[in-house]
Amino acid sequence: MKLAIIGAGYVGLVTAACFAEMGNEVICVDTDQAKVEALELGRIPIYEPGLEDYVKRNFQDNRLFFTTDLAPAVQRSLVIFIAVGTPQDQDGSADLSMVLQVARDIGRHMDGYKVIVEKSTVPVGTAAQVRRVITEELEARGEAFEFDVVSNPEFLKEGTALDDFMKPDRIVVGCEDVRVAELMKELYGPFLRTHQPIIIMDVVSAELTKYAANAFLATKISFINEIANICSMTGANIKMVRQGIGSDRRIGNLFLFPGLGYGGSCFPKDMQALIHTARSLGYPPRILEAAEAVNQDQRRIFLEVIRHYFMNDLTGKVVAVWGLSFKPQTDDIREAPALTVISRLLELGARIQAHDPEAMTATRQYLGNNPAVSFAASAYEALEGADALVICTEWTKFREPDFERMKSLMKGPVIFDGRNLYNPDKMAKLGFAYFHIGQKLDP
Ligand SMILES: NC(=O)c1ccc[n+]([C@@H]2O[C@H](COP(=O)([O-])OP(=O)(O)OC[C@H]3O[C@@H](n4cnc5c(N)ncnc54)[C@H](O)[C@@H]3O)[C@@H](O)[C@H]2O)c1
Repeated sequence: MKLAIIGAGYVGLVTAACFAEMGNEVICVDTDQAKVEALELGRIPIYEPGLEDYVKRNFQDNRLFFTTDLAPAVQRSLVIFIAVGTPQDQDGSADLSMVLQVARDIGRHMDGYKVIVEKSTVPVGTAAQVRRVITEELEARGEAFEFDVVSNPEFLKEGTALDDFMKPDRIVVGCEDVRVAELMKELYGPFLRTHQPIIIMDVVSAELTKYAANAFLATKISFINEIANICSMTGANIKMVRQGIGSDRRIGNLFLFPGLGYGGSCFPKDMQALIHTARSLGYPPRILEAAEAVNQDQRRIFLEVIRHYFMNDLTGKVVAVWGLSFKPQTDDIREAPALTVISRLLELGARIQAHDPEAMTATRQYLGNNPAVSFAASAYEALEGADALVICTEWTKFREPDFERMKSLMKGPVIFDGRNLYNPDKMAKLGFAYFHIGQKLDP
């Protein structure tokens, strides 16, 4: 099939590469000229394991093309995926300006029947808005081409995006027409060889499904963090409690790790958008608001522990930070807990020596030229002369470090572990002051 994917970000680029891998002819459109030029040279603008191979192979085999020019991409494609960003607006709602701009551009340039697919995460009612905008543009041109708007939310996770896309748990398609449903089944058929379902539903339900999925997962994270906070007051061991509840199949042990809370480009903004939708309909979504509040508090509680340890004075203290991305296996720092932690530590007078395997370039850009922050080429280099280590992201390479070497490099053997990577008893034996999430603290 001939496909256009509008937006070459984490979702758009993966979608484009995976559809091309299955033999479709795919044009990926992005307004960012530098990004398109880099992609044409085989340079992948994001870190996503395995993506480079897919992009290079399909580009070389002439199944995957990149352009900044939307018009020809729309004209030569039957199915057009909108995969641009939907960031949080000032009032918490999803900012749909990029999605609607793309819809307008499609309406300006389409020259026959098209299927327009919402791949971006968009609130209930967006498909109707997309339809309206395209119709307006067609009317202005005096044209009456038919088109369908489909909701096909994406459930991939950064870090395992290719695997998630190639072997999805399910595909959700919201559409009002059986022929379009058949077309979508044909398109996704090669990804569903091992009996995962393609779930066809109405458009509004598909739009809401994506938010409901993210809200449930975010709530699960806040739930275990709340239990960890109760552990820290009662002396219960959060690791054991987690195992005890996670082994119940009704609960499951995924997304049940206590830590600094959720961040990233999806959960925080999608929770806010769903809260905004519910509130604007006159329904206060109490569970969602509580999950958000717990998430915000999680970073504050962690920082309080650090502040308390240093008796409110971090002036001149050197703090090593391991992990900057919002989770491992990605360079994405959007809403990363590490950024909040670093900003607060800087306000308290600390100097930061940070290390992350993939996210240092993005963090350097985000923080600007701050003389109090330096970036270390290795995790151990970040520890040189450090008064403490703060762990913000659970990259695999931080899991089994050489603790003796760490101690020899640090000024003070103190670790504040925001991801509960180590065994507290072992750390005590090794001579570290070790603080983790859910730990019982002295009053
Ligand atoms: N990142 C994820 O893990 C993930 C997972 C599932 C769903 N989503 C959703 O998918 C959508 C895209 O997310 P993302 O992380 O890929 O965003 P992104 O910011 O990484 O990429 C968006 C891309 O769209 C491009 N763009 C903006 N306006 C454009 C236009 N008018 N024409 C062409 N290109 C344009 C930008 O230059 C950028 O390259 C969002 O709605 C997000 O919520 C993201």
